[in-house]
Amino acid sequence: MEHVPTLFFLLSTLFLAVSVVSPPPPLFPDEALPTKSGYLPVKPAPGSSMFYTFYEAQNLTTSLADTPLLVWLQGGPGCSSMIGNFYELGPWRVVSRPNQLEPNPGAWNRLFGLLFIDNPIGVGFSIAASKQDIPRNQRQVAEHLYAALVEFIEQNPGFENRPVYITGESYAGKYVPSIGYYILKEKPNGKVNLKGLAIGNGLTDPVTQVQTHAVNVYYSGLVNAKQRQEIEKAQEISVTLVKSLKWREAADARTEVLTLLGNMTGFATLYNTARAIPYRTDLVVDLLNQRETKLVLGVNETMRFEDCSDLVEDVLRGDVMKSVKFMVEYAVERTKVLLYQGMLDLRDGVVSTEEWIKTMDWSGLEMFLTAERRVWKEGDGGIAGYVQRWGNLSHVAVFGAGHFVPTDKDVNSRDMIEGWVLETGLFGGEDIRQTIPSRFVESS
Ligand SMILES: *[C@@H]1O[C@H](CO)[C@@H](O)[C@H](O)[C@H]1NC(C)=O
Ligand SMILES: *[C@@H]1O[C@H](CO)[C@@H](O)[C@H](O)[C@H]1NC(C)=O
Ligand SMILES: *[C@@H]1O[C@H](CO)[C@@H](O)[C@H](O)[C@H]1NC(C)=O
Ligand SMILES: *[C@@H]1O[C@H](CO)[C@@H](O)[C@H](O)[C@H]1NC(C)=O
Repeated sequence: MEHVPTLFFLLSTLFLAVSVVSPPPPLFPDEALPTKSGYLPVKPAPGSSMFYTFYEAQNLTTSLADTPLLVWLQGGPGCSSMIGNFYELGPWRVVSRPNQLEPNPGAWNRLFGLLFIDNPIGVGFSIAASKQDIPRNQRQVAEHLYAALVEFIEQNPGFENRPVYITGESYAGKYVPSIGYYILKEKPNGKVNLKGLAIGNGLTDPVTQVQTHAVNVYYSGLVNAKQRQEIEKAQEISVTLVKSLKWREAADARTEVLTLLGNMTGFATLYNTARAIPYRTDLVVDLLNQRETKLVLGVNETMRFEDCSDLVEDVLRGDVMKSVKFMVEYAVERTKVLLYQGMLDLRDGVVSTEEWIKTMDWSGLEMFLTAERRVWKEGDGGIAGYVQRWGNLSHVAVFGAGHFVPTDKDVNSRDMIEGWVLETGLFGGEDIRQTIPSRFVESS
């Protein structure tokens, strides 16, 4: 019996020795590494550069030159596209456990290249040479983004003619139209072969949108008539401040509306009424502040990653309430546009977008508004959402999702973006009109 503890001691020493020499499993298995990542100099702001991660299409069904390239822009203003990469639509995400990447069954790079850019400079791992270089308006945002995109295309042989789709969420409801408008209007023969714009739960026409909260929550049964009036009053303050061109104050007043909404409804987050806790962007912060992460992504070890930059948010505060609806109107005559919203979002949800669509100055508007809203089904017959389209405009309401549509409905969101880009399924075939009022019949 005496020799047993000795053997045990020997064995455990051996184990100890083995565990000391073998390194911990890597945070990033090889298959989780981006195809490329690093910095794109932003020429209009010397010394500044945008950080990016790029994932090539997992399945190149066409030649590289024809394989679409999706660009993803996060909102904020001031939030990092690494949230999109590692928590929403990228091929590997941290969604449940800290510092543990899991493959995403609905990654958007199945058929398309996927480029995440930390925009504008000063956001995420992007570098702003000085505070003065950080954009204060959408024109500057577009100029910087365009410079970065051209740089990316030039750095990669074979990318010259790839069809480019600019996508993004939330405050990217400003960025996506502004880079689209800039390319279509000023660089139509330039290096970016733009083929479409897609916005998820966007802020695009803020004055119209801020006025939708009261009716939206009232008719959802979330507030009573008295509370509805209180919200309407708060909304009106923001609108009045816009009319007197007090842009920053108007943005603050909009924040007040959202705070009021949060207080009245008691939700853990206005971004998704079904969630018991806010979205876990803290998991992305943890991951990106690991030494190993910075090493594999090509980021200076001394940089600290924040999910959203207060500085950039502050610099762009005067831009928040400014509309870019006219840019969408310009774009939809020249390229296709997708507006999609997760239905559980109380900040930038379906009603909020539909209200400004109705006010678009666009020749196709009447046809769009009377087009059939079709039920979009999942493989097993469940409801995935609703799709309405006419000409170059598509609208999708995503069932069971909040503000972060790809987080909440990964596979459905991937099916949506693939269908829209490739014009298949509900995005293929003839435009569909509903049984339509006689005034439209007469004119056709
Ligand atoms: C690649 O795409 C083709 C055509 O869509 C499909 O048949 C094939 O199963 C895909 N392969 C993988 C590994 O996804
Ligand atoms: C929301 O609730 C907090 C905490 O009770 C309070 O300090 C704040 O004034 C309220 N804000 C609004 C706009 O109602
Ligand atoms: C990283 O940043 C620090 C501080 O700005 C700088 O001193 C250092 O040279 C940088 N390292 C590299 C490899 O660029
Ligand atoms: C729709 O977009 C295409 C480019 O995809 C453009 O050629 C066409 O003129 C647009 N159609 C309309 C009716 O605006």
